[in-house]
Amino acid sequence: MKKIRTAVFPVAGLGSRFLPATKAIAKEMLPIVDKPLIQYAVEEAREAGITSMIFVTGRTKRSIADHFDKAYELEVELEQAGKTELLKLAQSVTPAGVTCAYVRQPGALGLGHAVLCAENLVGDEPFAVLLADDLIDGKPGALKQMVQAYEEHQASVLAVENVPRDKTGSYGIVSAERIDDHNELVNGIVEKPAPADAPSTLAVVGRYILEPQIFEELRNIPRGKGGEYQLTDAIAELLKKRKVIAHRYDGVRYDCGSKLGYLKANVDFGVRHPELGQAFAAYLRERQG
Ligand code: UTP
Repeated sequence: MKKIRTAVFPVAGLGSRFLPATKAIAKEMLPIVDKPLIQYAVEEAREAGITSMIFVTGRTKRSIADHFDKAYELEVELEQAGKTELLKLAQSVTPAGVTCAYVRQPGALGLGHAVLCAENLVGDEPFAVLLADDLIDGKPGALKQMVQAYEEHQASVLAVENVPRDKTGSYGIVSAERIDDHNELVNGIVEKPAPADAPSTLAVVGRYILEPQIFEELRNIPRGKGGEYQLTDAIAELLKKRKVIAHRYDGVRYDCGSKLGYLKANVDFGVRHPELGQAFAAYLRERQG
């Protein structure tokens, strides 16, 4: 069985829900307290044993590439000012042993199209996809849990969680048969069904482990919901031929693609922050009166 060594981070979406903040930077560069969403996702991938990070970028490519690149001028200035702690922080953005590669998605044609853009860099091996705007707080991280499921079942793995029925229109929804407390065998998947049409309330969230056969399906799918090439539609084809597992991870997910989810993450990570957590929690109590 091949090890999961590569992660793909699609960061080429328009991020229109966060305009004007996302006019010049990718949504995935928005910080939760003091760290960009994309950095949480890269650290989660590294924890899961992944060393090759592939970013599918769009018009805001520079903000992502600059973040994971060496910042010579900043480092010199921090060094000269004797700010060694901050220097270490700036230097530790890319975890040790990790390589980063970038590929351009020519237009925001959908998540499926973004993943297909990474095909040449991924090659013929299984890989992970992380949508950094889904921030998952888990110990171990959600992707590490999924890699274990991949190794156990030797199949593609989708992260899933139960959502309220009135929210099915925001997710890919699976129908599946229970294997054990954490894993189900997927037998159908549909993108953003209306609540009345949803086969279940088990929603796919932004973590996937995919076998390379997905690329063949991605090349052949027509445009789907919203006129975009949907990863969900390619998975629906894949599972006619290959086993696909839905994995209920342990952890809390914040939908940071929405403003409310983003604010919740900042509050929860803020009160736990080693430097300002206590003061921030005191401020929140004060506000409650
Ligand atoms: P979203 O569905 O959240 O879309 O993408 P979006 O464009 O980023 O945000 P809004 O809805 O306009 O506010 C889910 C993930 O897929 C990536 C996004 O960057 C995000 O990580 N994506 C989406 C691409 O990389 N390319 C695309 O064409 C579409």
